[in-house]
Amino acid sequence: MKPFFITTAIDYTNAPPHIGHAYEKILADVLARYHRLRGREVFFLTGVDQHGQKVQQSAEREGIAPQEFADRISESFLSLWKTLGISYDAWAATTAPLHTESVRAILSNLKERDWLYKATYSGHYSIRQEQFLTDKERGPDGEFGPEWGEVVLLDEENWYFRLSKCSEWLAAFLEAHPEFVSPGFRHIELSNAASKITGDLCISRPKSRLSWGIEFPFDPNFVTYVWFDALINYISFAGYGGSSDQRGEFKSRWPCDQHVIGKDILIPAHGVYWPCMLHAMGFSDNEMPRLLVHGFWSLKGEKVSKSTGNVVDPAALAETYGPTALRYYLMRDAVMGQDADFSEERLLLRHNTELGNGLGNLVNRTLSMTRRYREGSPKPVTLTADLVAHLESDTSSVKTFITQMDAAQIHSGIETMVDLVNRANALVDSSAPWKLAKDPEQPDRLDAVLATLILSARTAATLLQPVAPAAAAEILRQISLQPLSLHGEVLIGDLPEEYVCGEPSPVFPRLEKSGVVDSPA
Ligand code: MSP
Repeated sequence: MKPFFITTAIDYTNAPPHIGHAYEKILADVLARYHRLRGREVFFLTGVDQHGQKVQQSAEREGIAPQEFADRISESFLSLWKTLGISYDAWAATTAPLHTESVRAILSNLKERDWLYKATYSGHYSIRQEQFLTDKERGPDGEFGPEWGEVVLLDEENWYFRLSKCSEWLAAFLEAHPEFVSPGFRHIELSNAASKITGDLCISRPKSRLSWGIEFPFDPNFVTYVWFDALINYISFAGYGGSSDQRGEFKSRWPCDQHVIGKDILIPAHGVYWPCMLHAMGFSDNEMPRLLVHGFWSLKGEKVSKSTGNVVDPAALAETYGPTALRYYLMRDAVMGQDADFSEERLLLRHNTELGNGLGNLVNRTLSMTRRYREGSPKPVTLTADLVAHLESDTSSVKTFITQMDAAQIHSGIETMVDLVNRANALVDSSAPWKLAKDPEQPDRLDAVLATLILSARTAATLLQPVAPAAAAEILRQISLQPLSLHGEVLIGDLPEEYVCGEPSPVFPRLEKSGVVDSPA
């Protein structure tokens, strides 16, 4: 069976990770873990974008080789993904030989099939920014502003990809495949923008101004434009265009079910260049990937950026508050597709209320009472109608959760789990097991209530697994149960024979603010 194939954007290695990078990787990880729980094989690919001008310039500033610089920054991403428990199956680092070979094979193939040509472009060029300028860069007075430094008229020869040859195809494809981009409003945005992107795409840089890239196989004076190189990671690391023994693997994996990307790189890179590149390579319309576009995280309403001092360091947050609280908060507070504003207070609030007072308290109370009143083993009894109805509500919560997670609505899936926990805590309060324990007339009622609460706690921990795998595993260990199976039909069932619960200990210790995040006053 084809695995569920999920990828993220590959992160630039010119600077260490910030909260936006962490958000995207956690989002993809939650979806990957969810699909694994549903019994699917998953192929989760992520990595780093190591070429390009930004990396070359940063390395030059430090006086080291670009590879050394890119490797060091890549290491900070790798270490963060380990801390945050990102369960990727393959690592895409674009300087890997597997990838550079694939890019070169693709370039040669496109050239043979007349998708590439060489031409001279004349235009205004900023020496400081090392880029050609268009009329968009002119100020209100019609001049190029001082931020561009010295601007000269330059003739430059380069390789071009015949993007314009794809415009009719792209328009028809977008019209026929609204599922190409979700959320839907982003598909509309792309459809409106795509027709305005005209002309061909310059896909080379002369080595004289940028040497840090993949050399053209048929023209060694040029390296590949970083976006053309980077987009190919999605297929090269899945086995495309590498050595022949990988082709079978590629066929069984592709197309990609979810490219998780931020809203800034939909237009034109992923929404226009990428499908057109695939189309030119010979991929059919049914072999196009699907894009899942998320929003941006800001801090106090401002862009997160080192240069302005508006910094949210995910490694420091994970170190101080733990990966569970960070993963939970980022997934809980951002509505899929929308922007969100980072707040340390909200991170603590979500953790301390929903996880600590909610789920943690449910597990703690349930296990303590089961041990105190029943030595850990509620006797099997027939459930009364109210408890049957309670477990039926849990079953329908699980079904709702599945629908939400299939649609990548993680924040809603979490809300479903929270509702289930609130219902279970309400059952503790309304059934008052401490009173039942003193009532000699109601021994069966006490057994039935405790068993129901244990089953609800197991379901809640199961639903928490994709977002907070370590905490969920610890709860299940304390309850002494396997997670509820999410393969096929949802069957909550009964406690196993000879069931004995474990000892409770706090899974979500209360967090206090320690001021990890910097922002200008
Ligand atoms: N290297 C390119 C992507 C190439 S994919 C073939 C790139 N890198 S990036 O490091 O700038 O961004 C990586 C991902 O992080 C992108 O999907 C981007 O949208 C996302 N984010 C960057 N800043 C973000 C926030 N502040 N909030 C949420 N996600 C953000 O683009």
